[in-house]
Amino acid sequence: MKDVKIESVLTVYDTLEELPEGIVSLMKKASEARLNAYAPYSKFLVGAAILLDNGEVVIGNNQENASYPSGLCAERTAIYYAGAKFPKAKIVTMALTAGSQMQATTSPIPPCGACRQAIAEYEVKQDTPIEIYFMGETGKIVKSNSLANLLPLGFDRSFL
Ligand code: THU
Repeated sequence: MKDVKIESVLTVYDTLEELPEGIVSLMKKASEARLNAYAPYSKFLVGAAILLDNGEVVIGNNQENASYPSGLCAERTAIYYAGAKFPKAKIVTMALTAGSQMQATTSPIPPCGACRQAIAEYEVKQDTPIEIYFMGETGKIVKSNSLANLLPLGFDRSFL
């Protein structure tokens, strides 16, 4: 037997000012989308903005439902919309921001497991890494060069 070590390298930025202008503007669009989230039950608002290789930006936010599991996260709302509207485009970058209406959210909020799986599907489909930036409402920003860093040992089409 042998042990296998799995390593992921992420980059942490203290402030948005450390990031390139294009990323700041994408994160701004994610913040605007966050404010339009429909989250009356959790009061936890999430916004996503996706930059495509055709220059288009697609946004999404979480959409909740009185039947709780029928709701959808911001990341999947955005990525499925991108897939529906621009099926041939590749996803270059995703900017994610999340915050609670009950308390200040100052630490970076990573995408949930189901959203990582959904994003992984597109990364495999397009055979190009998707760059992901995530943050709270304020505070540090985390960058992952690829979804694979956030979902080691992922399940994908190669197993089918
Ligand atoms: N949520 C997202 O939109 N993205 C995530 O990655 C984690 C959770 C939403 C789902 C639900 O509307 C609320 O946040 C609380 O879980």
